[in-house]
Amino acid sequence: MCGIVGYVGHRDALDVVLHGLGRLEYRGYDSAGVAVLTSAGTLAVTRKAGALANLIAELDGTGRAALRGTAGMGHTRWATHGAPTDRNAHPHRDATGRLAVVHNGIIENHAQLRAELEREGVELTSDTDTETAAHLLAAAYASCGDLPLAVRTVCRRLHGAFTLVVTHADEPDLIVAARRSSPLVVGVGSGEHFVASDVAAFIEHTRDAVELGQDQVVTITRDGYRITDFHGAPASGKPFHVDWDLSAAEKGGHDYFMLKEIQEQPSAIANTLRGHFIDGRIVLDEQRMDIQELRDIDKVFVVACGTAYHSGMVAKYAIEHWCRLPVEVELASEFRYRDPVLDRSTLVVAISQSGETMDTLEAVRHAKDQKARVLAICNTNGAQIPRESDAVLYTHAGPEIGVAATKTFLAQIVANFLVGLAVAQARGTKYSDEVAREFAELEAMPAAVTQVLSTVDQVRELGRELADAKVVLFLGRHVGFPVALEGALKLKELAYMHAEGFAAGELKHGPIALLEPGLPVVVIMPSPKGRAVLHAKLLSNIQEIRARGARTIVIAEEGDETVRPYASHLLEVPAVPTLLQPLVSTVPLQVLAAEIARQRGYDVDRPRNLAKSVTVE
Ligand code: AGP
Ligand code: GLU
Repeated sequence: MCGIVGYVGHRDALDVVLHGLGRLEYRGYDSAGVAVLTSAGTLAVTRKAGALANLIAELDGTGRAALRGTAGMGHTRWATHGAPTDRNAHPHRDATGRLAVVHNGIIENHAQLRAELEREGVELTSDTDTETAAHLLAAAYASCGDLPLAVRTVCRRLHGAFTLVVTHADEPDLIVAARRSSPLVVGVGSGEHFVASDVAAFIEHTRDAVELGQDQVVTITRDGYRITDFHGAPASGKPFHVDWDLSAAEKGGHDYFMLKEIQEQPSAIANTLRGHFIDGRIVLDEQRMDIQELRDIDKVFVVACGTAYHSGMVAKYAIEHWCRLPVEVELASEFRYRDPVLDRSTLVVAISQSGETMDTLEAVRHAKDQKARVLAICNTNGAQIPRESDAVLYTHAGPEIGVAATKTFLAQIVANFLVGLAVAQARGTKYSDEVAREFAELEAMPAAVTQVLSTVDQVRELGRELADAKVVLFLGRHVGFPVALEGALKLKELAYMHAEGFAAGELKHGPIALLEPGLPVVVIMPSPKGRAVLHAKLLSNIQEIRARGARTIVIAEEGDETVRPYASHLLEVPAVPTLLQPLVSTVPLQVLAAEIARQRGYDVDRPRNLAKSVTVE
C-alpha cells in the first residue's frame, strides 16, 4: 500500500528516488510522483497517473534538468481517497508550492480537516485525504519556521494510519518523516541518508537501517538522522543490518518476480526451518513470554488475511492433531468486529507476510486488549505486527515482490508447523523424539518442492489450454481444502478469472449445480497411503464431476493409479506425509495461475487493483 522514498546526500536525488520507487512499485501502482529540492532553491514536482513507467516517460519527455538536486522524495500510490489521476497523485503541495508531502495510509479525520481548511479560505486541488496535511503543515511551518516542529504539531492532529515525508524549499538540506501504524525505515549511508517504506528502496546504497517506532518523527540530513516522538522528546529507533542483498530484490533472469519467487520456494522452506531445532527443542526467533504461558494455553485462534489465512487453515489441522487444543481460524477483518472469547490462556497466532496488514494488526491489538498471548509469523523483520506481539517466528523467505504471495505461503505453512511443534513440546503432548521426527520430515520438503518444480513445463502447457476458460472450480478435503482456496485466489488475482474453492464434501450441497460439460474442475487428491478414507471420498467426488461431463484436473501423489481413469489431466506430486501435502500440491496451482495470466496478457507481478501490503481496513 504505497511506496515512499526520501533522500538527502551527494548523489542525483531524482535518480536515487526513481530507482527506489522501482523497487517499491509492488506496493502500489495507481500513480507515481517525485519532488526534488533543486540547487536553484525551488521545489520541483512531477507526478503522473498509472505505473512508474508513465512518470519516467513524462520526465524523459520534459527533460530532467529542472529536477536536479541532492535531496528529494517520491511516491507510488495505491489510491484510497480520490481516483488514480494526475491531480490526485502525490506529492501534494501547499498553496505556495514550496512545501510538499507524500503519504502512505489514511488520514481518518480528513473530512473535518478539509472543512476547516476551506472555512479558512484554503483551496484544495485534489480529492485526497493527504492534501489536507500539506496545507496544515504549511500553516504550522509559517508560524514556527521549523520543519520538524511543524511535522510534530500536525501529526498530533491527524487520526488514522500514516507515514508522511515532508520537504520544504526553505529547508534544502533536510527531509522530515513521521510514522503512525504505517511502515518507515531509515537507511544510514556515508554522507547520505534515506527514508523509505521498505529497505528494498535503498539496499543498493546501504544495508544499515533503522526502523522507526510508533509515533516517531525522523529528520534526515546528509550527515545524520535525529528521531523524536510527536512531542519532540528524543527517541531512538531500532538499528538493524539487512542480511539479503540486491540480487534478492531483482528478477534474476525471470520475466516476473513471481516466477522467480515460485522457484525460490525450496530455499524459502529451508531458510525458515534453519536454526529452529536446537538441542532437541523448537526455538522461536523472539519470545517475550515465558514457556509457562505456552503450557497454560487452552485455546488457539489463528488470525490472518488472504493467502496468510489459507496457511492458517493448514495450521489448524496440525495444531489440533499435535497439541490436542481447540483451534479457530478466522479472517482478521472479521475477528475483531465479533466478540471473540479470549483471555490470558488463549494463544493468538497472527500470520502476515508484510507484518503491516491493518486488519491483522488490529486483530492483534484486540487480542492483546483481552490479555491473550500473541505470537506473530511474519516475513518482514521488525514490522509492526511482530513488534506488538509477545513472540515471533520469522519466515525467512526473503523479499517477496510479486503481489501474489507464493514462497511466503509455503514458508508460513512451515512456520505454522514449527509453532504447533513448539506448543506440543511445551504442553508435553509430543515427546522430543516425535518432534525430531516431524522436524526431519519438514527438512525433506525443499527436495520434494524441487521435484514439483521440475514439472513446470507440463503445468504451463495446461495453462495455455485453460487460458480461455470462464470459470474454474477447485476442490479439496482436509488440508487439501485450503489448497483449493489458495488455487482459486491465485487465479482470481492474476488472471481475473472467476474461480471458487470448495471443500469437496460440500460439492453435493450446492456447487454441483455449477457443473456443465467442459467446465474445468481442479481436484486436490490426498495420498492413498495417508488416510485411506479421505482418498476414497475424493475418488467418489471426482467420479461425480466426471459424470456431469466436467473436465477434471487432478493433482495426485505419484503412482496413485486409482485416479488416472477419471483425470482429464493428471499432475503428479511426490509422496509426502498428509499434513505436509499443501507444500507440494500448491505449487502447480501457482504456476497454472501465472501461466493463464500471461496467456491473457496480464502483468503477473502487478495485478490490477491490488497492492502488496494492505495498510488500511
Ligand atoms: C496474496 O496473494 C494476496 N495478495 C493477499 O491475499 C495477502 O495474502 C493478504 O493481503 C495478506 O497479506 P499479509 O500476509 O502481508 O498480511
Ligand atoms: N490515502 C492516500 C491517497 O489515497 C494515500 C494512499 C497510499 O497509501 O498510497 O492518496
